Parts: sequence; structure tokens; C-alpha cells
Amino acid sequence: MAIFIDTGNLLEIEKYHKMGIIRGVTTNPSILLSEGVTGGVNGIKERMQQIAEMIDPLPLSVEVTSNDKVEMIEQSERFSEWASNINVKITIHGPEGELVNMEVIHELEKQKNIRVNATAMMSAQQCLIAAMAGATWVSIFGGRVNDMGYNSSTEITKLRNLLDKFNLSSQIIVGSTRETFNITDWLEAGADIVTVQPKFIGGMIVHPYTKETVQMFLRDAASGEKK
Ligand code: E4P
Repeated sequence: MAIFIDTGNLLEIEKYHKMGIIRGVTTNPSILLSEGVTGGVNGIKERMQQIAEMIDPLPLSVEVTSNDKVEMIEQSERFSEWASNINVKITIHGPEGELVNMEVIHELEKQKNIRVNATAMMSAQQCLIAAMAGATWVSIFGGRVNDMGYNSSTEITKLRNLLDKFNLSSQIIVGSTRETFNITDWLEAGADIVTVQPKFIGGMIVHPYTKETVQMFLRDAASGEKK
């Protein structure tokens, strides 16, 4: 799996999808707002269907916009009907620590046959619980973990070991990239997937010394042609 792209920007998704280097797309309400997606669920639907069609059959995560149990389930059913490659993001708990989200994750996966990306998690223990509830993907926000003064790679390795030890099949997504080197560090620490802001995918590819080397090759090729 390795790399997902964490954006709602169609041009960025198209650019990296054409290169064959992304294996999925993740979004959240903040990302969509920053990309100018407005108009509530109708606005979200239009953009999500464009992305889903572009990347089909790769997965696209779309987050619910409510923390009410009935609404979360109703939106999840609706979103997953927009395209066959759409899965839903449910936060591990509500804004005040409400635990109903756990029931929603379990019900969607086990009774409604809807794939869930359990999200906004900051620790291995939260991800372990979401994996036990049946989430297909468990998303830990590595950059935010580091922001709080904890070591994200330590949490990822701990989670990897726990999922393997108890044969839990959830895939670990690490998001919240802050620097280009996060991607390989987190994959090495045990992530199945890192979901990456577009600018950091570019950062993985372009190297100043490679530029210089390519310039040398082209210069020498031109000189050779003249001789
Ligand atoms: C992951 O799925 C989230 O969309 C995202 O990576 C959150 O990152 P942030 O900390 O930059 O908001």
C-alpha cells in the first residue's frame, strides 16, 4: 500500500496518480474547506465523486460531518453509495470524549458492511481499541503526536507489534505529515500506509544533487553532439 495522498485537490491527485505512485486518497473536513469545497454535503459529494472516479478502484476516505450517532450512520450509508471505492472516516470519539463513535465504527463494519477509517488518533492504545472494534484502517496523526512532545515512531512500532501479536487485520495509516522524512521513518516504524500532503511527495522525488547530475549529463550529451 505505502503511500496515500492527503488532499482534496483534484490537480494534485491527478498529477501523482498519473505517475502511479499513490495507492489511495484521504480527506477530512478541514482539508476540504481549505480546498474551497463548500455547500455542505452536496459540495462534498460533487468533489468526492470526481476524486473517486479519477482514482477508481483505489480507496478514498470521506469523513462524516456530524457526531450524532444516527447522523453518522446515515451519512456513512449515503457516502458509501456515492462510489464503490469510498470508505468513511469516523473519529475515535466525539469532541467531548463521547464514546458512541466506537459503536458506530463497530456497527458500520460488522452490520452495515461499510469500510471504516477510524481517525484523529494520537496513541497506539486508541488505535488498538479501534482495531478491536473492527475498523479496516486505523489512522494515527504522527505530526500531531510529535507536536505534543511524544515520539510518533515509538507509538507506531508499539501499535504494529500489538496488531501483529493479536492477529488484528486493521491497516495502520499515519497522517499529519510535517516533513518529507516522516514518510520513510513512519513506514520503517511499522505503518502500512502514510498519507502524505502533496508537497512532501514532490519533496521525496526531487534532490538538488540529482538536478546537478542530470544537468551534467545533458551538458555533456550536447557537447558530444557538437564534436
Ligand atoms: C489524516 O488522515 C488526516 O487527514 C491528516 O493527515 C491530518 O493532518 P493535520 O495534522 O495536518 O491536520
